[in-house]
Order: sequence, then structure tokens, then C-alpha cells
Amino acid sequence: MCNVVSIINMKGGVGKTTLTINLAYYLAYLENQKVLIIDFDPQSNSSSAYITYNRYEELLDERKVISEIFTDIDRIIGPVSSRNPKLLTLSDLSVNVRSTKDKGKIDIVVSELELSKVLERSGGAAIEERLAKILEEKKKAYDYVLIDCSPTYSVLTNNALMASDYILIPVKPDPFSARGIPMLLKKIEQHNRLHNDKKVEVLGIVFNLIKDDLKYMDSVKAQIMATYPNVFQTEISVCEHYSKGLMENKTIYETSAQYWFKDEFTAFAKEFIEKIEKR
Ligand SMILES: Nc1ncnc2c1ncn2[C@@H]1O[C@H](COP(=O)(O)OP(=O)(O)OP(=O)(O)O)[C@@H](O)[C@H]1O
Ligand SMILES: [Mg+2]
Repeated sequence: MCNVVSIINMKGGVGKTTLTINLAYYLAYLENQKVLIIDFDPQSNSSSAYITYNRYEELLDERKVISEIFTDIDRIIGPVSSRNPKLLTLSDLSVNVRSTKDKGKIDIVVSELELSKVLERSGGAAIEERLAKILEEKKKAYDYVLIDCSPTYSVLTNNALMASDYILIPVKPDPFSARGIPMLLKKIEQHNRLHNDKKVEVLGIVFNLIKDDLKYMDSVKAQIMATYPNVFQTEISVCEHYSKGLMENKTIYETSAQYWFKDEFTAFAKEFIEKIEKR
């Protein structure tokens, strides 16, 4: 069964992209899973994690890019007219970036700045269901679809909610990041009220960018944990190799980071899988 997980927080810089790309690696290489990453952020950060700049440029030229799902509606839902245009499928957009020797793999659909143009368009069901629609038929080909969302709430977020089974919320425990949580949970509640048949479940909040010497973090964490019981036990520490690695298209596992940072990420990933399997 395929699990579609959106990684969301309306606060920027909390680790949505970092968690997405490292989780994809863990699932593919250490659990032999078939993973699809959807870069659903016009900033396109997760696109560059697994793809070199030149390859990325080629993909844009070939229009293998997520913004294509917001082009002509006929290409997504089937021809309204009799002209019979070719339906757009996920295989037209996804590219394989990693294959393991044990059947694990990572495919990605890259993003581009142009995706932000969608935000200027009016909403409505037709536009909000496009990601769900394109994922529908190919979900069988993957064990996990990870959707790296942008920090602003928009029609893209609605698309991500419509397409997802679960939401993962990375939080940096500072007062500003904590403020975004109730807003996000309210949006999820609204979505679930409106779409009884497409409810999403919050998998949990995961604390990222933890620094032991920052005492204020403890009080923010305590406050969040008292309000929201659904918090991952594993917290992800600050480790410079997350950002350094990204510059070289490497996940934490492929860097020279100390083993305990890798073990910590593994503990989080295992908890992630356990939470899904328990549902
Ligand atoms: N645990 C960590 N240790 C060190 N650096 C980290 C960690 N997590 C994330 N970072 C760094 O912090 C920055 C922001 O992380 P990231 O891009 O994953 O956040 P984001 O939530 O996706 O941001 P945005 O909302 O802009 O998309 C990046 O430079 C990333 O490398
Ligand atoms: Mg990001």
C-alpha cells in the first residue's frame, strides 16, 4: 500500500525539505522502499538535492516539472472536447534519481519558480484536486510519496492535503515556529470537515534543529508537548552536515557526519514508519 505524506509547516526554514530528502534516502536504502518525492515548493529546494544543476535545466526544458499539472485541464481529467489530447501521467513528470540493489528507489518530480503562478489562479475543486488526480493511478508503483510543501498557505497546500494520507510537521522549537502550529492544525481540521472521504491524519510533530545549550528551546518544547500530545520521541539535532551535504547532493548518511547524527535520523525514520504501520 502506498502512503502519501505531506511535510508541512507554514513557518519557513524548519526542516521540511531536509526531512523529506533524508527520509527518502532512509526509506529507499535502509528499508528497500520505492519512494517518490514531489517537490511542491516554487523554491525548488528538494529538486536540487538529488539532481545536478545541468540535469535540472534539462528537465525544465523537457517540461518534466510539477507545474505541468496546472496546465490545460483536459490533460489531467481527460478530454472535455472530442480532440482527445494525450492525458498527462505521473511517468511524464517523474525521473529516477536513485536505485538501490535491493529494489529500493527514489523518483522525483521537480519544481520550478513558475509554480508560484498557480497561486494567482482562483481555487475551486478542479484546481485543488490536480495533485491527487495525477498520483491516483501510479500510487501502486510506490510505497511512499513524500510531498515537500512550501511554507505559505495556498492552493498548493490544498492540493497537498487532497492528495495525502498523512501530515508530518517539522518544528524548530522557537516561539515563532510554535505559533504556526494551531493555524496549520485548524486548516487540517477544516479540510477534514469538508472532505469526509479524503481525511488526512497528523502523523505528528517532530522537533528539528535542536541545540542542547539553548535553554529557551526546553520551555517552548514543553509548551508544545503539553498542548499537542502527538510529538515524535526522537528529536533531530543541529548538524552542519545536513546543509553541507545538500551542496554536494548528499544526504546525512552519505556525509562524514558522526555516526550518532545518522543514528538519530534513523531513530526518527523508524518512528515515522511505526506510526504509519500502527494506523
Ligand atoms: N537538523 C539540522 N541541522 C543543521 N541544519 C539544518 C537542520 N535542518 C535543517 N537545516 C538547515 O536549515 C535550513 C532550512 O532547512 P530546510 O530548507 O529543510 O527548511 P524548510 O522548512 O524546507 O524551509 P522552507 O520553508 O524555506 O522550504 C537549510 O539550510 C538546512 O540545511
Ligand atoms: Mg523547503
